[in-house]
Amino acid sequence: MSVAQAEFREAMGCFTTGVTVITVDYQGEVHGMTANAFTSVSLDPLLVLVCVDHRAQTHAHLHARKRFGVNVLAEDQRAISEHYARPDRNHERAEAEAGARFERTPHGTPVLRGALAYLECRLHTAQDAGDHTIFIAEVEDVLVREGNPLLYFQGKYRVLGMAKEDSETGSAGRAERGLAKPALRKG
Ligand SMILES: Cc1cc2nc3c(=O)[nH]c(=O)nc-3n(C[C@H](O)[C@H](O)[C@H](O)COP(=O)(O)O)c2cc1C
Repeated sequence: MSVAQAEFREAMGCFTTGVTVITVDYQGEVHGMTANAFTSVSLDPLLVLVCVDHRAQTHAHLHARKRFGVNVLAEDQRAISEHYARPDRNHERAEAEAGARFERTPHGTPVLRGALAYLECRLHTAQDAGDHTIFIAEVEDVLVREGNPLLYFQGKYRVLGMAKEDSETGSAGRAERGLAKPALRKG
C-alpha cells in the first residue's frame, strides 16, 4: 500500500494532542519552538521525547545546548503557539505580540509563564529518523499548574468541552465555576 504524504498528514491529524513550546537558551536569548510531537517514554529513568525537523533552528540549538524545557500550553496560550510556529518570528516581540513572558531555571533554561506544566530536560540521546531527529531527554525537574490545556486536532486549535456524562447529569453549574471535570467533547 502506498500512502501519499497528504493522506498520512490527514490520518495523523486525527490523533489529538496537546501543544508545547520547546525552550532553549541560545546565547543568552530565549529560543522557543511550537511542538506537538512530544510524548513520555519511560518512568525509570524519567524520559521524554520530542521529534524535531532537521531544518528547524531548534534542531541545531538542542544539539549544541543539550538541555531544553518543555512547556505544556494552557488553553489561553494559542497566540503563543502561533507565534513560536512562525519561521519569521522575533523573540523581542514575543511578549508584545503573543504575551509570552519567561523566567529562568537555575540551569538557565527559559520557563514560559502561565504554562500548564514545565519539564526541565537534559539530552539523553538523539536518533535521526527520516527528516526529523528524535531527541530523548531525561527529566530533571517539573512544575505543574491548575488549568485546561490547548489542544490540536485536524490542523486546528481546540479546547476541552464538558464530559458527556457530566452535561447529561446537569452539572453545568460546576462548569461555570470552573470545577467540572474536563473531558473531550463527544459526538
Ligand atoms: C501545532 C504545531 C505543532 C508543531 N509541532 C512540531 C514538532 O513537533 N516538531 C517540529 O519540528 N516542528 C513542529 N511544528 C513546526 C515548528 O513550530 C515550526 O517549523 C517552527 O517555525 C520551527 O522553528 P525554528 O526553525 O526556530 O526551530 C509545529 C507547528 C505547529 C503549529
